[in-house]
Amino acid sequence: MQIILLGAGAGGGLPQWNCGCANCNAARAGHIPSMTQSSVAISADGTDWAILNASPDIRTQLAVTPELHPTGPRQLPIRSVLLTNGDIDHVAGLLTLRESQPFDLFATAAIHDALAQNPMFGALRADLVPRRPIRLDQPFDLASGLTATLFAVPGKVPLYQEGAVVQSGLIGENTVGVELIANGRRALYIPGCADLPDWLQTRMEGADLLMFDGTLWDDDEMIRMGLGRKTGRRMGHVPVTETLDALAQTGMGQRVFVHMNNSNPLTDPNSPESAKARVQGWQVGRDGTRITL
Ligand code: MLT
Ligand code: MN
Ligand code: ZN
Repeated sequence: MQIILLGAGAGGGLPQWNCGCANCNAARAGHIPSMTQSSVAISADGTDWAILNASPDIRTQLAVTPELHPTGPRQLPIRSVLLTNGDIDHVAGLLTLRESQPFDLFATAAIHDALAQNPMFGALRADLVPRRPIRLDQPFDLASGLTATLFAVPGKVPLYQEGAVVQSGLIGENTVGVELIANGRRALYIPGCADLPDWLQTRMEGADLLMFDGTLWDDDEMIRMGLGRKTGRRMGHVPVTETLDALAQTGMGQRVFVHMNNSNPLTDPNSPESAKARVQGWQVGRDGTRITL
């Protein structure tokens, strides 16, 4: 199984266009690595690929990733796109993939509904880009030799669907994780997750790779830094400090944080927080990180 982190950042990326925090300024100055928004490419054989979440940065991400370049005048090694939620940082890139290019679009019915409510996504022609609804806990073929299973994780509806009262620990079709199996290897991709209940930790046990929500280091980091008014959990993201503790005893192969917000000290490879995550067995994903299982 081959995995490429196309974008390791959360919504907004690093630097974020309107953010003057220390990390964003350090990224602008080239002192820490920039990050594009959340997306992963995965393949069982290195020739037939699936994209996990289509970020607004997908045009640039594809341009710098030779494995995903066209193989003929209109031939592409990308077979499918899978969405793990309806958030803008995970779906807006679909609009870039509209040039009459066939691929399968996989998501739960709830996520397909969110797209269907926005007529602009009709730019992806239904005859070329079939929208395939996937049931939770039912394995399906994502690309050649690659089997995926969606499972509910604690989360919430997309920001643009939030009402007056927001449930941030919803278990259902709005926020899912993906189990990926190829050549006897098992990887889990969970870029958004509000909590780590026991049943989820049980599912992680024994995985060869976990790619997990690394949005915020601390729950109140954005409030403290004057960048926002919401906690991580309210945004549907369990803080890294809790994840390090909760998964300390869970047996796994590699563990990698993805979907880092620009406020997160993990964005700086030389921060004490990055050192702490490393000591606890975690890698911090970067744009272009490649993993072979
Ligand atoms: C998130 O992961 O919390 C979302 O991408 C936030 C957003 O929609 O900007
Ligand atoms: Mn996001
Ligand atoms: Zn910032």
